[in-house]
Amino acid sequence: MDFFPESFNIILDPSKLPKHVAIIMDGNGRWAKSKGLPRIYGHKKGAEVAKNIIYKTRELNIPYLTLFAFSKENWLRPKEEIETLLGLLKYYLETEFEEIKKNEIKFKVIGNKDDFPEELKKQLNMVEKETEKNDKMVLCMALSYGGRAEIIEAVKKLAFQIKENKISAEEIDEMLFRKFLYTYDIPDPDLLIRTSGELRISNFLLFQLAYTEFYFTPVYWPDFNEEEYLKALYSYQQRERRFGRIYGS
Ligand code: FPP
Repeated sequence: MDFFPESFNIILDPSKLPKHVAIIMDGNGRWAKSKGLPRIYGHKKGAEVAKNIIYKTRELNIPYLTLFAFSKENWLRPKEEIETLLGLLKYYLETEFEEIKKNEIKFKVIGNKDDFPEELKKQLNMVEKETEKNDKMVLCMALSYGGRAEIIEAVKKLAFQIKENKISAEEIDEMLFRKFLYTYDIPDPDLLIRTSGELRISNFLLFQLAYTEFYFTPVYWPDFNEEEYLKALYSYQQRERRFGRIYGS
């Protein structure tokens, strides 16, 4: 993990910002527990933080942001906690709709929308539809998302296309395979941030993270403010990306 001195002055190079930032927003529950509060308070504060990070990303002119907001495994949490998370999603889709449009942000869901209650699914579809022409930033929300499920679903779609003689097995290469992923229209993340000190990727964007730079911070998501975000971006700017090749000497 990176170490930043107390009075570190972060100056970013605007020409070296990532094009796509993906975030695993972790630690809401532990943040709440550390304050003697019920877990849902962590999610409430976490949702506010997510909102701030979205608009900061837009302000920085970073064109793609993907947030892991609800995993396939999250359905196994207690009913009240699931209801809180879905309630927050509904609330912010309603209250931020105008601001999202004003900022020319395109909203996109990756994951299985069919897992959500009909009303919420309709709302997600509506926001996607109403913002599809926006081109200043793509806000990609991973909802009921699992990386393995995404890959398996892609393989299944591909297999059906072969069965129907629409493509031949020989044609399959990386470029073709990507077309069957949820992320067919967005580039791979350049930077992955995970908060709360956990050092794993938890079934997130398994295919897409192959050459992504990772940034792990012990800060719990509800405490991940603008300064913490800038630190992550600064850390990214110090990296030399080689994509398996040799640069320099
Ligand atoms: C991890 O905290 C976070 C999540 C389960 C999802 C992220 C959710 C938000 C930021 C709130 C906004 C969400 C939506 C859907 C608008 P955790 O509960 O796993 O924390 P813990 O590991 O400390 O228990």
